[in-house]
Amino acid sequence: MRLSVIGCGYVGLVTGACLAEAGHEVICTDIDSERIAKLKAGGVPIYERYLDEILRSTRRAGRISYTSDAGQAIRAAQAIFICVGTPPKDSGEADLSAIDNCARQIAAEADGPKLVIEKSTVPARTGLELSRALSAYRRNGDVRFRVASNPEFLREGTAVEDFFHPDRIVVGVEEESAAADLREIYRPILERSFHCPLHNGTCPPGPRADFLVTTINSAELIKHASNSFLALKISYANVLSELCERLGGDVEEVTHAMGLDPRIGGQFLKAGLGFGGFCFPKDVQAFIHLAASVGVDFDILKATDRVNKERIDRYMERIRRALWVVKGKHVALLGLAFKPNTDDIRYAPALEVLKRLLADGAAVHACDPEAISRTQALFPGAHYHKDPYAALQKADAALLCTEWDIFKKIDWERAGKTMARKLLLDGRNLYSPSAMRGLGFEYHSFGRP
Ligand SMILES: NC(=O)c1ccc[n+]([C@@H]2O[C@H](COP(=O)([O-])OP(=O)(O)OC[C@H]3O[C@@H](n4cnc5c(N)ncnc54)[C@H](O)[C@@H]3O)[C@@H](O)[C@H]2O)c1
Repeated sequence: MRLSVIGCGYVGLVTGACLAEAGHEVICTDIDSERIAKLKAGGVPIYERYLDEILRSTRRAGRISYTSDAGQAIRAAQAIFICVGTPPKDSGEADLSAIDNCARQIAAEADGPKLVIEKSTVPARTGLELSRALSAYRRNGDVRFRVASNPEFLREGTAVEDFFHPDRIVVGVEEESAAADLREIYRPILERSFHCPLHNGTCPPGPRADFLVTTINSAELIKHASNSFLALKISYANVLSELCERLGGDVEEVTHAMGLDPRIGGQFLKAGLGFGGFCFPKDVQAFIHLAASVGVDFDILKATDRVNKERIDRYMERIRRALWVVKGKHVALLGLAFKPNTDDIRYAPALEVLKRLLADGAAVHACDPEAISRTQALFPGAHYHKDPYAALQKADAALLCTEWDIFKKIDWERAGKTMARKLLLDGRNLYSPSAMRGLGFEYHSFGRP
């Protein structure tokens, strides 16, 4: 099928690349003309494992192309995926202006019937507004639009894997024909009949994705409800870690045993610096706001958000207590991206820590495998290193903020010999307290003795 993707960010590029790899013809567009120029020149504007490889192979096969001319992309496609950003306003409400822009542009440019699919995360009832905008701004009265919601559940860092091997594909539709078209678009993925770059073409046997057809409102709610629930689990584990500190338990032991109960599950029960990224913080806020707009007080989500913000305060308190005076101290900050295997620093806890340390007058030596250039543009006052040992040299303290593999493999005996003081504040409970203390470190983590 001929598809277009509007918005070439994390979701748009992965969607476009994977659907092209699955055999469709995809044309991608973005308002950011520099991004389009980079893609046309063979560059990849984001870091995501396997993405550059798929973009290269689909481009060679002539199945993916890029244009700054949104009209061209809209006219060329039978189905259009809207993958633009939906950032939070100051109030927490989702800013849907980019979705509205897309709707008006599609309405003005379409010269034939289109299936318009919202893949961006949007509040319930956005599909209804999208339908309304498409007919209100329609230039050609004969053009028929069908609207569908197809929320995306990929996780940055494993986005290609998640897209090709989803647990479920949710499509919210108003009419059966839209569900049938979406089933056809996803058929290669449902049937595993694409060349899988992760498994060299032969995927191991495993459960196939459920294809769930719902109403548009339900599909939109499913996405916000899922992200908010996962965020809630993280905040729950973080409150448990505080209880463990005060009562004398070990949060890892508690959450491990809890997670063995299949009704609870062990994922997203990790205590630490809390969640960040472009999804959880804004989606929790948007869901609270949506609920309030219809008179529902979602106070468990307000608590989720509050607990998460307080994680940074708790971490900073520990840093200040351990260092006594922060001003003038050499601090090695390990990890900038909001989680490993991505260069995304949006709402990254590490950046908030970096900002506060700079404000306190520390000399921050930051290290991250992929996120340095993005961070450097925002915080030119810090020092940046690709090599963790370089960041740790002469450091008064090491702060672990993102659990990248290279940090798991640090030889702390070697690093400790070059540090001014063997002090490690582990924001992700990555290391073993006894092993670190055995190496002579003053070691702090969350909720562990
Ligand atoms: N990043 C994730 O892990 C993830 C996962 C699932 C869902 N989502 C949701 O998907 C949406 C996109 O997220 P993202 O991380 O890809 O964002 P992003 O900021 O990386 O990408 C958005 C892109 O849209 C472009 N854009 C904005 N307005 C446009 C317009 N009017 N026309 C054309 N292009 C336009 C921007 O230039 C940018 O390149 C959001 O709603 C997000 O909540 C994100």
